[in-house]
Amino acid sequence: MIRASAPGKLMLCGEHAVVHDRPCIVTAVDLRYTAELALTDAPAKIIRIDAPGLPGSPVEIPLDAIGTSARKETAFVEAVIARMHRLHPLPSGISIKTSGPAVSYGLGSSSAITVAAAFALAELLELSLTHNELYHLCYGAVLDVQGTGSGFDIAAAINGGTLYFSGRGRVIEPLTVTHLPIIIGFSGSKVGTVNLVNHVSTLLHDHPTVVEPLFDSMQMVVEQAKIALLSADWQIFGTLCDINQGLLDALGVNTLRLSELVFAARGAGALGAKLSGAGGGDCMFALAIDEQDAIRTAIEKAGGQVLDLATGVSGVRID
Ligand code: PMV
Repeated sequence: MIRASAPGKLMLCGEHAVVHDRPCIVTAVDLRYTAELALTDAPAKIIRIDAPGLPGSPVEIPLDAIGTSARKETAFVEAVIARMHRLHPLPSGISIKTSGPAVSYGLGSSSAITVAAAFALAELLELSLTHNELYHLCYGAVLDVQGTGSGFDIAAAINGGTLYFSGRGRVIEPLTVTHLPIIIGFSGSKVGTVNLVNHVSTLLHDHPTVVEPLFDSMQMVVEQAKIALLSADWQIFGTLCDINQGLLDALGVNTLRLSELVFAARGAGALGAKLSGAGGGDCMFALAIDEQDAIRTAIEKAGGQVLDLATGVSGVRID
């Protein structure tokens, strides 16, 4: 039996623009998901999946039908097994048990589970995949399931740390950031990421001369944020976060609730604050050097849930 775990992620800046060939910066967060895999010796090649919240769990799917069950709870794991099976035919059935925090706050549970399952499966099959091979396997699975996405979350789950990411994984550059002074606030759950990504693509299609420059500005925010992060210049990083928030608002992915948390944090002394990820709900974060207690309280008073999660944590590993 092999057990692997991978972390969730928090997008720091560059979301949405990264889907359109601009860079972003992401940090891995300490919300770990685990996949436990074992080969089975039954003559029929069956994939048995046991996952929290999976109706009728454990479910059994014939290996030949893997990836076609249309169960959303197992879609990512099925897709990555199907891809692996095409590249390296499985010698037998397998049983898989996934586990992790019950609420993922939109912080990358699907990518973490996909990466943990793929890594454990590679280990079980005695394949030594490079990070790049693992990335392409898992990113392919994500595209099989949701048809869109930049792959930044897969990169964070594999590599851990804080990453400068672009080109759908062509550039994955670890950034040496020892401490990230942020407070994360959860605003409540959202409509799916894919809907928001599609909304932005439609906006780009309908108003290219307006939206392309917004993406260009987001790119400049990321390039300068990278320098600020590497020199721990939190004043500048905070200002860039505020600018990024304004640009995301212009794309129409901000919500009143997220704005309330962002303004509450700024009003309590944060050096900057922005939503994180696709928008429409989920998380925001605030840069908090001083006044940390006041900023936490302000986020909570505005209706947010403060999440105490370490950032820059290690990537996928065998546990
Ligand atoms: O909704 P999240 O937190 O998974 O973030 C999505 C970030 C996007 O840039 C909007 C999409 C992507 O795949 O990069």
